Amino acid sequence: MREPLRVAIAGLGRMGAVHALHLHELARDTQTCRLAALADIDPDRIRRFNAEIGQQIPGFASLEDLATAGACDAIVIVTPTDNHREHAARMIGSGHRVFLEKPLTGTLEGDQAFAAELERDHPHALMLAFQRRFDEPLRYAKQLMEAGAIGRIFKIYSALEDSNPAPNGYKSGGILPDMSVHNVDEILWLSGRTPSKALTIGARIYSHALTTCAEDFDDALLYLWFESDLVAQIQVSRNHVSGYRVETVIYGEEGQIHVGHFQQTPFEVVVEAYGRRGSKAPLAHRKFSMRDYGRPLPEFVDRFGAAYKAELAAFIECCRTGAPFPVTHRDGVRAQEVIAAGMRATI
Ligand SMILES: NC(=O)c1ccc[n+]([C@@H]2O[C@H](COP(=O)([O-])OP(=O)(O)OC[C@H]3O[C@@H](n4cnc5c(N)ncnc54)[C@H](O)[C@@H]3O)[C@@H](O)[C@H]2O)c1
Repeated sequence: MREPLRVAIAGLGRMGAVHALHLHELARDTQTCRLAALADIDPDRIRRFNAEIGQQIPGFASLEDLATAGACDAIVIVTPTDNHREHAARMIGSGHRVFLEKPLTGTLEGDQAFAAELERDHPHALMLAFQRRFDEPLRYAKQLMEAGAIGRIFKIYSALEDSNPAPNGYKSGGILPDMSVHNVDEILWLSGRTPSKALTIGARIYSHALTTCAEDFDDALLYLWFESDLVAQIQVSRNHVSGYRVETVIYGEEGQIHVGHFQQTPFEVVVEAYGRRGSKAPLAHRKFSMRDYGRPLPEFVDRFGAAYKAELAAFIECCRTGAPFPVTHRDGVRAQEVIAAGMRATI
């Protein structure tokens, strides 16, 4: 395809406005795509974004209007999770390729039904947004692990803690389906394996009282067993009031790989591999600078800004070349199946 891909964005909220900015930058800097249309039920959000970039991208009040107008070839859907299935199905049904924010639908039953429909009618139409797979620090850790730097892996710990509750009005299907889906996908991707058993523990400790977002827990642990030779521990919460905390530790027989540690100014992520106790120097040490957007943005953008942009660039490249998407509805269902198994065994 020689013409720039015409890409629309639906939903210009916390996450959608960031995808829209990245799309605008990719259009300007690579000419592989064009930001062709914006859709949001709130016309102010469309006006604000157009004012920010100093352009007049055509706006639509619904995805129905956008699809009918034939204004784009592909679309980035960042509407609330409750709308994901309806919006993605509408756009795929009219021949668009879709980049859908996580989670696929927010429930296991919804994921399984939607994935079965896609498998039958449109197996290659949807890319699911799991930005961690495009994150340079995590990709480097995976490389170290696969090169054998720390020997056989027997445990992975992955933490994700917000400093605030989910915003008023945010629709969450529960802290595990909404938030730990990132960590679960990370662990399935790092290990290349599927767990055989799962257990969750959760509590409402603090931040749930500060929001109208109804969520089961504001603090939870998910423990996964992969046969008898690997375990994973996932910790998620909305209570780390000092700031966003994202940490992964991979345990091997010959050492550990640490990805990130909490910093109040989160623009530097260090990946370090340590040998066994007594080793003189780390086996590996690399610093990754995160992008400073120069203005306050949601905390997840401070840590994953470059990864969000890289996943979007990968989506555009696949649409242009016809290559299969690297992350799909199948990955979304797999992660949600693991979480649902854990939630069936909740303490
Ligand atoms: N990958 C990540 O790290 C990450 C981070 C945050 C949110 N998300 C996901 O992004 C999605 C949106 O979350 P958010 O926090 O940006 O929500 P948000 O409420 O801030 O934004 C949603 C936007 O969609 C618009 N909208 C609502 N209903 C619509 C409709 N029917 N048609 C068109 N527009 C509509 C709203 O006006 C708003 O602008 C969720 O699915 C969430 O799970 C992902």
